[in-house]
Amino acid sequence: MTQLYLEGDKIALRGVTRADLDHVRRFWDNAEATRYMETGSRPATEVALEAFYRSATDNPNVVIFGVVERATQKIVGTSGLYEIFWPGRRAEFRILIGEPSVFDKGYGTEATRLTVDYAFIRLNMEVVHLGVNADNVRAVRAYEKAGFVREGLRRKFVYARGSYHDAVVMSILRDEYLKARGA
Ligand SMILES: CC(C)(COP(=O)(O)OP(=O)(O)OC[C@H]1O[C@@H](n2cnc3c(N)ncnc32)[C@H](O)[C@@H]1OP(=O)(O)O)[C@@H](O)C(=O)NCCC(=O)NCCS
Repeated sequence: MTQLYLEGDKIALRGVTRADLDHVRRFWDNAEATRYMETGSRPATEVALEAFYRSATDNPNVVIFGVVERATQKIVGTSGLYEIFWPGRRAEFRILIGEPSVFDKGYGTEATRLTVDYAFIRLNMEVVHLGVNADNVRAVRAYEKAGFVREGLRRKFVYARGSYHDAVVMSILRDEYLKARGA
């Protein structure tokens, strides 16, 4: 088994391997998992999967983790920091738990918390931000539990499943994170 990198109670985060790509294809092509997202608007291709693998392994401005369910040791999704802008010390958080059978077990919240902690403590980021389809109540709730704060709405910013949806813009700042963590 690939060495775990960050350990939570129910899930752990580890680096992405080539062997994960078949699972990532399954996550991207799962209509229920990508219901609120633009991901999945075309079938996953070898080229897109290869580009994902290259970003995960060879792009200094991206850190992607495999989310591993501890009970089964299986990869159930990915979580990561994208578009890392080093001078401004900010990064965009994205997550996809690709197995709807494990939704609502706290995995997404835990993966978000671990990735955010990694961003602030290991990478010394100042701001972690994200955008999420406003109808994706589960995701907004998970992000709020992990400490993200709503900043505003981007109107009709997401096109998913035949209609436009507002996107909630959220962020967490280093100071508020450290304060909440009791540092
Ligand atoms: C969004 C996602 C990360 C959340 O992770 P998760 O492990 O399923 O969710 P968690 O169990 O950590 O938290 C979900 C929370 O939303 C709540 N929730 C779920 N559906 C809800 C609904 N329809 N209305 C209100 N609350 C809801 C849950 O009860 C839980 O809150 P609680 O702990 O206060 O009860 C995960 O489901 C996922 O990756 N989904 C598919 C891809 C996706 O949408 N990614 C986000 C793109 S921005």
